[in-house]
Amino acid sequence: MAIILDNENKVFTLQTDHSMYQMKADRYGVLLHTWFGKKGTPFDHSYLITYADRGFSGNPYDAENERTYSLDALPQEYSSFGSGDYRASSLKVRYPDGASSCELRYVKHELCQGKYSIPGLPAIYHTSENKAETLIVTLEDTRKHFYVHLYYGVMEDLDIITRSVRIENHSGQPIWLDNILSLCIDFLHGTYDMHTFYGRHTMERNHQRTAVHHGIQSIGSTRGMSSHHYNPFLILSDANTTETSGDCYGFSFLYSGDFIASAEFDTYNQTRILMGIHPDNFHYCLEPGAVFCSPEAAMAYSENGLEQLSHIFHKAYRNNLCRGKYKNTRRPVLLNSWEGVYFDFTGEKLLNMAKDAADMGIELFVMDDGWFGKRDNDVSGLGDWIVNEKKLGCTLGELSDRIHELGLQFGIWFEPECVSEDSELYRTHPDWALKIPGKSPTRSRYQLVLDFSREEVRTYIFNQMCQVLDSARVEYLKWDFNRSISDVYSADLPPERQGEVLHRFVLGLYDMLEKLSERYPDLLIEGCCGGGGRFDAGMLYYTPQIWTSDNTDAIERLTIQYGTSFGYPVSSMGAHVSQCPNEQTGRCTPINTRAIVAMSGSFGYELDVNHMSAEEKETVRRQISLFKAYYDLIQYGEYYRLTDPQKTKDYHCWQFTSPDKGEALLCAVALQIRPNGPGCWTKLRGLIPDAIYLVNGTEYPGDALMHAGIPLPKAKEEYESFQIHITKK
Ligand code: DGJ
Repeated sequence: MAIILDNENKVFTLQTDHSMYQMKADRYGVLLHTWFGKKGTPFDHSYLITYADRGFSGNPYDAENERTYSLDALPQEYSSFGSGDYRASSLKVRYPDGASSCELRYVKHELCQGKYSIPGLPAIYHTSENKAETLIVTLEDTRKHFYVHLYYGVMEDLDIITRSVRIENHSGQPIWLDNILSLCIDFLHGTYDMHTFYGRHTMERNHQRTAVHHGIQSIGSTRGMSSHHYNPFLILSDANTTETSGDCYGFSFLYSGDFIASAEFDTYNQTRILMGIHPDNFHYCLEPGAVFCSPEAAMAYSENGLEQLSHIFHKAYRNNLCRGKYKNTRRPVLLNSWEGVYFDFTGEKLLNMAKDAADMGIELFVMDDGWFGKRDNDVSGLGDWIVNEKKLGCTLGELSDRIHELGLQFGIWFEPECVSEDSELYRTHPDWALKIPGKSPTRSRYQLVLDFSREEVRTYIFNQMCQVLDSARVEYLKWDFNRSISDVYSADLPPERQGEVLHRFVLGLYDMLEKLSERYPDLLIEGCCGGGGRFDAGMLYYTPQIWTSDNTDAIERLTIQYGTSFGYPVSSMGAHVSQCPNEQTGRCTPINTRAIVAMSGSFGYELDVNHMSAEEKETVRRQISLFKAYYDLIQYGEYYRLTDPQKTKDYHCWQFTSPDKGEALLCAVALQIRPNGPGCWTKLRGLIPDAIYLVNGTEYPGDALMHAGIPLPKAKEEYESFQIHITKK
């Protein structure tokens, strides 16, 4: 039983295999948060709460003159603005009379078998009904206008608890939601570190760990996408938590638009975590009888450090978030045309690349940007999804057939949400782009954003895409998005609804991805947003892999993929071997290093294979057969961050271990060569201590490999790397 209800005392305890989460509706009907952490006796943890008469902290009217009862200091399950709690809150509502203060009180609760889903939004699912339960706790505002239904999905064996909030307006008048976050948790005591993942285009998800100090520390995005700049994933850990020990909590937002995630250390030394849609550009009008559902937030707890926390998210996202044919089947090794030829190709050029690709064992050829409309650079053409047969020298069907004749699958690039001003679509429907009347829009990469909140716009693009997809055999689609959103205004919505545009845009994106997957169930869709600008758990529901970064430099990728690994599985990270000197950094790295790094993701190549030497082609053949041999170990095994590439000097190491611990793969990249330098060792993890393992034909006990470590081979050239396969005897 995952959810234990003490109906008399209104204590609700949610248990997973290793964690426990608890709340209690107190004597005034305030829903208090009483525990999140290690699993234990489902005893009423409200004994932890202390009450004091705190100056300038008001008392709710129903508490009469109980001066020690104040929402300003009590741990809350869902905090509301204007309730006498002056910390950042999770809900702010504007009533028809203009008031914004609201207080929430418990009404009822309901337990349901299975995990809830959210209409039109991504959500973690559970295939086994009896392994998942849903608790719905209903609160009502004291002015009796609306219900707040708090949804909790408890998946015992995944060690994941999810949250979503459903607001139901039962008054006869509209109300406005100015802020409705998905998650609010108050930690009564403890001092914490906050781990965030910041970045920029071509350098996404750098891991940052800082002590949570008094005040609010927050990250977020107001770019209309989850963004390259901050990822909607947050870890809170004890100050002394390491990869392998200590308490930590992960909070992941399953949403691809604006978000906010914050940690507030208040002046009574309590910590509040909030996560949800960023309120800056969100104002939602809830008509009488209407409901609004917030996107899902997923939470996990680990008592054994960051590694275990990541493993929880990896497994849940791989098996219970990603969907479709490619969730658990091997993804084809691909060659993408972008860095090889950019816009400069003909059908013949692509076929020549495909021939060499097929000869090397590559399985899928992807034609990136430049195949449609007037598109020989990034100035024009977006929105005109009509095959440029003149450039290709044939129809798409013919090109795809010839590629298939070579034994390859065929893939194609789209950027459905954007439009070039120099396009037939924009000339015909200028009002289909997001633009503010009387204001010139901000351009980015010369392009504007289509109003995906409008169904007619989506339907038009969808039909165009289907025409293309139906005209040829296409097994893969790359869905790109190459700018941040600005000029948020829809020509289709009245003034009082303009604050809904960005959220409706995201719902429109999801709607279209869902329709695409329904119509083409075997299509492998890779998400992309100028690299990793929309690398989030929301997208993973529709696209099991996402292009991790436009930075393909193997050494830079170490940091990017390391940071990404905290919240996302390697199977979700698109990673390619590209040419040297690298297009972004000018750095040269051995081709084996590029492959070892790219293999720790969804593997592919992205270079002009026609310019490769015979020796390099032979190397690629070997790499591909190695990749196939290690596929299960890498994609379904557990991933271990042995070193931190931002800190380590000599070698950066990581490891994969099979679920039964019978096999492991140690990957090591030499970051610097030191003449007459000291030796280097690394300690393995996740092996069976008393089992014997074979490393290059020599036997070692598992505990020796883990406690004492293993010497790393001496690198003879800069950035040389090693893959060491370890098997249990
Ligand atoms: C940005 C993507 O990240 C690249 O891989 C490539 O597809 C370009 N867009 C094409 O314009």
